[in-house]
Amino acid sequence: MLTLQSLSKHFGGVRAVDDISLTIKEGEIFGLIGPNGSGKSTTINLITGLYAPTTGTVTLDGYDLTAMAQHERTAMGVARTFQNIRLFGNLTVAQNLWVAQNGHEQRRAHFLPRWFKAGGEHGPDIEELLKFSRLHSKRDVQASALSFGEMRRLEMARALASNPRVLLLDEPAAGASQEDGQLLAERIRDVRDRGVTVLLIEHMMELVMGISDSIGVLNFGRKIAEGSPAEIQANQDVRAAYLGSKHKDEDLIHA
Ligand SMILES: Nc1ncnc2c1ncn2[C@@H]1O[C@H](COP(=O)(O)OP(=O)(O)OP(=O)(O)O)[C@@H](O)[C@H]1O
Ligand SMILES: [Mg+2]
Repeated sequence: MLTLQSLSKHFGGVRAVDDISLTIKEGEIFGLIGPNGSGKSTTINLITGLYAPTTGTVTLDGYDLTAMAQHERTAMGVARTFQNIRLFGNLTVAQNLWVAQNGHEQRRAHFLPRWFKAGGEHGPDIEELLKFSRLHSKRDVQASALSFGEMRRLEMARALASNPRVLLLDEPAAGASQEDGQLLAERIRDVRDRGVTVLLIEHMMELVMGISDSIGVLNFGRKIAEGSPAEIQANQDVRAAYLGSKHKDEDLIHA
């Protein structure tokens, strides 16, 4: 469904992403892990068009996205959250969702809306999305007044408001409590069950191993492994990469 072919991004001498090829299948949760600075966020930035690649292509169901602008990719059904939360702090929760829903061009006609069918052509109904994200009681609260876990949920709801076919999540549980992390995991599963394909970057190993259908591992910008959660946990190259880094995911090696 979503295919990266020989994708690279170099910043001067830094090979942030270095010749990565991978395919994410329709309807799966694909976990993308790796030590700090291994190129995970850069990969999402290449998929969404925030950065132009040094080499390689990004295709969605055979459509080449590589030359498309960010808003065109949104219209094609690509949505993301940011590692550093990006919300309009002075707008309410509901207003943030409204802006997200109306801030992009009408999606292309051949992609039927899959998310909350009741929402019709313009994407999910905002009230439904608020309920889904357990933010309904906060609908008129300013985003800046939310707890960290609530902000993370609003980030994800904001991405869903554009009615995506593929959702790219960059550390959606970072800074959230254990309980909020659990709630997020349930929501991510629900999103997948509604037919949205998910790319999940996450350092919380329990979460990513628990909900991913398949996992890819980056190290120094290169893909060093790909497989099921069990295969990844048993992979010696992966263990070595984590052992060699001063990384907070060291619990991978105890998993
Ligand atoms: N805009 C940029 N300019 C220069 N170097 C960059 C830029 N963005 C990322 N890099 C570098 O590219 C490498 C990969 O960074 P990236 O943010 O993709 O890593 P990451 O896997 O998301 O790390 P983390 O787990 O810490 O979020 C790092 O060495 C980083 O310093
Ligand atoms: Mg990152």
